[in-house]
Amino acid sequence: MKLMSHLVERSRMLDDIACADDFGDMPDLEKRILAILSLFETNRKSGNADEYVFPDSRRIRPTLVGIKSFLREGAAIDIEKMRASTEQLLRRKLVAKKSDCYFLSDSGKRVGKIFRIERMSKGYDNLLSRTGNSKAYSLFCEHVFGKDLSQFNVLDMEQLDTLIEKLELKPSEVALDLGCGNGRIAEYISDLTGAKMVGLDFAAEVIKNAQQQTVDKKDRLTYVPGDMNELSFKEGSFDAIISIDTLYFVESIDATIRRLKKLLKPPNGRLAIFYDQTCDPDESRDILLPENTKVGVALSSNGLAYETVDYTTNSKDIWIREIKAAEELKELFVKEDNADIYEDRVQDAKRTLEKIEDGRHVRYFYLAKLKK
Ligand SMILES: C[S@@+](CC[C@H](N)C(=O)[O-])C[C@H]1O[C@@H](n2cnc3c(N)ncnc32)[C@H](O)[C@@H]1O
Repeated sequence: MKLMSHLVERSRMLDDIACADDFGDMPDLEKRILAILSLFETNRKSGNADEYVFPDSRRIRPTLVGIKSFLREGAAIDIEKMRASTEQLLRRKLVAKKSDCYFLSDSGKRVGKIFRIERMSKGYDNLLSRTGNSKAYSLFCEHVFGKDLSQFNVLDMEQLDTLIEKLELKPSEVALDLGCGNGRIAEYISDLTGAKMVGLDFAAEVIKNAQQQTVDKKDRLTYVPGDMNELSFKEGSFDAIISIDTLYFVESIDATIRRLKKLLKPPNGRLAIFYDQTCDPDESRDILLPENTKVGVALSSNGLAYETVDYTTNSKDIWIREIKAAEELKELFVKEDNADIYEDRVQDAKRTLEKIEDGRHVRYFYLAKLKK
């Protein structure tokens, strides 16, 4: 999921943060165009040729205008400048053009992915280090979730308690928190259960900070930087794997679950996932049934048995609390120079509430187990 809509979140990341200059003298606008085209690739193709459907239901074609809509200062960018950049990318054979749409070539896909991941991880580094150090955000978490664990999700203490209760972690066990953010949830789980936790996230600075903050618990807590799409742990490393609002960001949910299953230790390995799914107004609501969501389908196709808990109604209350708390804390957010966090929370909550009211948005907890 997202506390900001995926689109807003991703476009800001793509846009705001300079990426390392690995590709020599390639101008920044060209890198950004490649990253944006890579973002298109990670979204669903609609029935209409060339059109992509984004998580907030927007349908966009990868034309110059479509690409421009992902640049934060898009309106101010001269379309001719963008045209010149795409011409360069065409010349470098990183991009191909079909009528007025642009697509990545195979080499463009590789390079575009690097820029996309790099920009997104730096974006999260920036955002999560700000939420982690913000008094307003700490109070926001207390009001909304019942405790400040620097949550960047829709997980209140009721949901977290369910997760802990159902996982039944023992002190002898090791669990992975995939996309752990600031790592405070992993720390909380370890403090309660005594289990060893490994937190993985691609926000490298945030991970470094989490390790420093918990140095006195380093026998139980390890934080590692890494990409969820390229997990390099040994097979059978974990008794449990937790994914709280992170599977929206992987390239393939099916491939990720296949990999996670391999990382689980037989025979009792378990996988706990919190996941939201939205459907378009014209789509059948059947895809929102727990067994039909992307996660439900991927668990089944990978031979994992699972149980689910429907948290849609509970999450509706959380979103309502988010708006109230954000409004109450607005002044403090602004004073801290974190007005964008306040705005994103309110906007995202309003958008999601509308979809929940319309029966187009669900939130589930999945607990999957290796079959004995
Ligand atoms: C919505 S936040 C959830 C954070 C945390 N699980 C929580 O519940 O508070 C998504 C997290 O996934 C991380 N993330 C996104 N894409 C990733 C990737 N490809 N590899 C590793 N981490 C990723 C982000 O840095 C962020 O911490």
